[in-house]
Amino acid sequence: MNRHYLMCRPTYFAVDYVINPWMDPTVPTDAELAVRQWTNLRDTYRRLGHTVDEIDPIPGLPDMVFAANGATVIDGIAYGAQFRYPERAAEAPAYLNWLAQAGFEPHAAKEVNEGEGDILTTERFLLAGTGFRTDHDAHAEAQELFGRPVITLQLVDPRFYHLDTALTVLGDTIAFLPQAFTPSSARVLRQLFPDALEASIEDAVVLGLNAVSDGQHVVLPAQATGLVRQLAERGFTPVPVDLSELLKAGGGPKCCTLELRSA
Ligand code: ARG
Repeated sequence: MNRHYLMCRPTYFAVDYVINPWMDPTVPTDAELAVRQWTNLRDTYRRLGHTVDEIDPIPGLPDMVFAANGATVIDGIAYGAQFRYPERAAEAPAYLNWLAQAGFEPHAAKEVNEGEGDILTTERFLLAGTGFRTDHDAHAEAQELFGRPVITLQLVDPRFYHLDTALTVLGDTIAFLPQAFTPSSARVLRQLFPDALEASIEDAVVLGLNAVSDGQHVVLPAQATGLVRQLAERGFTPVPVDLSELLKAGGGPKCCTLELRSA
């Protein structure tokens, strides 16, 4: 139940470039509001009993707040990110150095991958997305590094460019947006998780699936009201938070949160 997370305060948050359909540099952003919303998310985790560490933000890296993309950390092993776009490239060594100093075993990536944005850990497998950011070759790299079976999933809707915008892990099941995947990948998910919760497009477009669960609580965007109801009906405890400012960059609670899994 007790989780360990790494987060990065959005001190330098902005939308200065466009690497996903959510980002529009003509829409003003408010870094102070982003910091307030982010602080509430961090304090929410602490209230739930989780440990939150912070990595120092770096000027000129406005997307560094999205810690989930910084690496994938399982069994004390940190698989570094290698970003698709040069705008975010410098984040990868910053996260890997922090993780090495914190005692995790660092492995720089050979293949393009955006960390837990596209590599989600379930009890049985790693679920790995491809189609927009993470290369398929990174799925094999992750399987060899972690010794856990990797299930490749093809993403098809550019609004749901990272796996963690289309699917969330809920203990031993998942919630997902079927139409964010190829029909075959959606079929694989239904086979592996016959009791999976299927989200509506209305909840997905407020990044409702960009949620963080400890098995009981599910921290998710407050705007995803249908999903809040579905989760409660299944016996989970939804914990709604407002990250409207970070949504302007295409991010939600999960994007801001890198889980650190020790050996
Ligand atoms: N602007 C960022 C990007 O496009 C948002 C990243 C969101 N992170 C996530 N884990 N989905 O890269």
